[in-house]
Amino acid sequence: MAKINIADIRQEYRKSGLRESDLPGDPLSLFNRWLQEAIEAEVDEPTAVIVGTVSPEGKPSTRTVLLKGLHDGKFVFYTNYESRKGRQLAQNPHISLSFVWHALERQVHVEGTATKAPSDESDEYFRKRPYKSRIGARISPQSQPIKSRIQLIRTFVREVARWLGKEVERPDNWGGYAVTPTRIEFWQGRPNRLHDRFLYTLQSNGEWEINRLAP
Ligand SMILES: Cc1cc2nc3c(=O)[nH]c(=O)nc-3n(C[C@H](O)[C@H](O)[C@H](O)COP(=O)(O)O)c2cc1C
Repeated sequence: MAKINIADIRQEYRKSGLRESDLPGDPLSLFNRWLQEAIEAEVDEPTAVIVGTVSPEGKPSTRTVLLKGLHDGKFVFYTNYESRKGRQLAQNPHISLSFVWHALERQVHVEGTATKAPSDESDEYFRKRPYKSRIGARISPQSQPIKSRIQLIRTFVREVARWLGKEVERPDNWGGYAVTPTRIEFWQGRPNRLHDRFLYTLQSNGEWEINRLAP
């Protein structure tokens, strides 16, 4: 197989543009529009988002999750509170969220703070999950070393038997994080790498300031 030099892989971005006149005062409304357009374009995993957290020593780490809610100006995702990201957020609530929709040549970067979602909201979402995903959430010590896959499956099967015929309860260590944004950047790819970037920054009076950034 011929080896392709990765430095030679390049693409012009010419699908769309973002103009000042396209920008609403509320960045959440533009985010909603872009998310809907990603869903309508049938991109893979349109709600996938890369979550950045920081360790107490100031070391960053990232992973992908799925956005499950967007309401009251907050972005909501679900995870294990005792996972690596959960332990980091317990010490430092600063968080970043990066959405990338390659097919639309768009990305959105959000920065803000995360708080645990109210437990009734996590309960409501947990009830909507497929039965086996609810069991999985109960038994997986997310981010911890485990002996083997067999051991994981044995624990899963035991838990399935335990909840047979009963409503599976949400474990205390699993639930939502609601991210309150303070900075949201919209990026639309343009030809010649002269991309459109608009940054919304939350002001102390609750208004969003908008600035165009150099690409
Ligand atoms: C497409 C995709 C979606 C994912 N969605 C979630 C999710 O919604 N919640 C979650 O806890 N992990 C999700 N994961 C797994 C995380 O990326 C990660 O492995 C896990 O949360 C543990 O991360 P941590 O050890 O950094 O805490 C997803 C992974 C992928 C690739």
